[in-house]
Amino acid sequence: MIKIKVAENGPILIEVNKAVLHSKGKAEELPKKIIALCRCGQSSNKPFCDGTHKSCGFTGELAEIEVE
Ligand code: FES
Repeated sequence: MIKIKVAENGPILIEVNKAVLHSKGKAEELPKKIIALCRCGQSSNKPFCDGTHKSCGFTGELAEIEVE
């Protein structure tokens, strides 16, 4: 099962068993089981959240999705 949580005023959190990032011709296994993807557009570490949403005034509603 994959759990996706869209955090209130924050990132998209994806809980997985294993994740591989494919970027710029490389594949890298991610060490974390919960991946935080930026949705405010201000992260300096895209596609990942770096916490900047807390200081840029981003607002967004909470949502949760479970995929089986
Ligand atoms: S959502 Fe956290 S930096 Fe964009």
